[in-house]
Amino acid sequence: MRVNGKPQRSIFVDPETGAVCIVDQTLLPHRYEIRRLETLDEFINSIRHMWVRGAPLIGATAAYGMALAIRADSSDASLDDAGRRLPLARPTAVNLAWAVKRMTAVLRPTPCNARAETAMAAAGAIADEDVAINSSIGEHGLELIRAIAAHKAPGEKINILTHCNAGWLATVDWGTATAPIYKAHDAGLPVHVFVDETRPRNQGASLTAWELGNHGVPHTLIVDNAGGHLMQLGMVDLVIVGTDRVARNGDVCNKIGTYLKALAAHDNGVPFYVAAPSPSIDFDLADGGAIPIEFRGEEEVTHISGHSAEGRLETVRIAPTGTRALNPGFDVTPARLATSLITERGIVAANSAALSKMFPERVAGRL
Ligand code: MRU
Repeated sequence: MRVNGKPQRSIFVDPETGAVCIVDQTLLPHRYEIRRLETLDEFINSIRHMWVRGAPLIGATAAYGMALAIRADSSDASLDDAGRRLPLARPTAVNLAWAVKRMTAVLRPTPCNARAETAMAAAGAIADEDVAINSSIGEHGLELIRAIAAHKAPGEKINILTHCNAGWLATVDWGTATAPIYKAHDAGLPVHVFVDETRPRNQGASLTAWELGNHGVPHTLIVDNAGGHLMQLGMVDLVIVGTDRVARNGDVCNKIGTYLKALAAHDNGVPFYVAAPSPSIDFDLADGGAIPIEFRGEEEVTHISGHSAEGRLETVRIAPTGTRALNPGFDVTPARLATSLITERGIVAANSAALSKMFPERVAGRL
């Protein structure tokens, strides 16, 4: 997508220095800063501390982390070390383990003296594939939006609600949930997005709103608790969210609060779609009950951060001193509440038979 009119990916290799560069997402929307990542520790920290976040981007970052670890030391010991430490950075998004497995499968049989070049090419391929996957999700999702527009008066708004940030910042480009939105907007459809703020880290308020604004997509920020009310008022035509992991039976894990939106959508007859790239589908897990849910620090709940009028980033306490907090980062929406999944191969029912038919090679264990 574009930042200040210039095409930009969320992770890229600087053609002059060969350094891997990312956008530091902890500073957005107030500062747009590119950081260079060089060592394996820096890659692990960038994922753990959420300079990069969002399942597909976490996967691409891990792939480049493996590549730079191998560029520094191409031995089996270095491959094992990177392959063991990177997946521990964050537990829920399966793209991390998927990318590490795929890099390892490519690099293990490669002679050590050829590994550095092979690793950079393999990481680049994962990044490029992510862009292509998301673009396809966008095309399939666009058809869903067109179908809704067909039942409206010409020029009437199509209201889409989204949760967290499943935008281009959460992927290498396009985003998953936002790809259909960007494609619809670019095709001239009058889309408008209700952006859930997404406490506690506010990825909706700080990232999705920033992205949509940059692209000129009309949007309105709402508190997380407003979605159900807007659906009751008939103000939401469809919900599109991303996912960190889909189990084989179609259960969907995504940012905490997604489940409540799915319940409200179900109760109000609002279609609830999950944009699910195939690397986010975990064919090894029978259902969502076994998905590891990340618990994050209490201070994300007891405090809130933002920019002061003077432009200083400030964090303030909003709960009484001593109040304890519990901070699960994700929840699982049962497959029965998802209208369908939007994958790069098309719209698919959230169940084991349909997913296996659409991705037979993944069922057979190919990455
Ligand atoms: O904790 P985060 O910001 O990494 O969580 C991100 C989400 O939950 C996204 O909705 C999900 O990863 C899909 S991103 C295309």
